[in-house]
Amino acid sequence: MNILVINGSPKSDGKISTVLKEVLAHAAPSSHIETIQLRELDNFHYCTGCMTCQHTGCCIIRDDIVQVETAIKKSDLIILATPTHWGNMSALMLGMFERLFGFLLEERPKGIPKARNAAGKKVIFVTACSTPWPFNWLLNQSRSCFGRLQEICKYSGLKICTTFVLPGTAGMAEIPEKYLQKAQKLGENYLN
Ligand SMILES: Cc1cc2nc3c(=O)[nH]c(=O)nc-3n(C[C@H](O)[C@H](O)[C@H](O)COP(=O)(O)O)c2cc1C
Repeated sequence: MNILVINGSPKSDGKISTVLKEVLAHAAPSSHIETIQLRELDNFHYCTGCMTCQHTGCCIIRDDIVQVETAIKKSDLIILATPTHWGNMSALMLGMFERLFGFLLEERPKGIPKARNAAGKKVIFVTACSTPWPFNWLLNQSRSCFGRLQEICKYSGLKICTTFVLPGTAGMAEIPEKYLQKAQKLGENYLN
């Protein structure tokens, strides 16, 4: 299985990165894993809103987005990992999806969109947030972050397999054993 991990955390040693390490440590040894750290893409521009991608099927700016497009095409399963920022995905993750607009979605004449390039691939969401359980859910933090990702995946034809949330990260020195075990299970159950 070709697994693509897209890490949208601005931190290399944050909670998302730690959770991902735990998940990936339990993937099948035969799987091929490619990780894209969005924060490390040094030639990456914002979407300019030109909408040319609707006609060409990809962004007109051929910077590091090419690496992301190629990796998505090759993948069977994509792990979208992002900290919850303002009850949403991180700016890094949203910036990537804006650049993938026409690559993932074809808007047809009567405005009915059609998925392209990623339809049918599997996806897993991973997030972390400082709000503790159950308020991360009740106050629409992790829920809203996943909601936005879910909309993108719905229109892009990506199939959500499962989700992982690490809540209550404020002042958290080590990830509690319970969540490490959940991360291990995720790896065992979905990456094998
Ligand atoms: C700009 C910014 C916005 C944030 N917004 C939220 C939020 O809306 N809700 C929340 O619970 N935590 C929020 N947080 C806290 C992060 O989600 C939390 O620190 C998370 O563990 C970061 O993961 P990382 O260390 O892997 O980047 C925010 C943090 C930052 C830097």
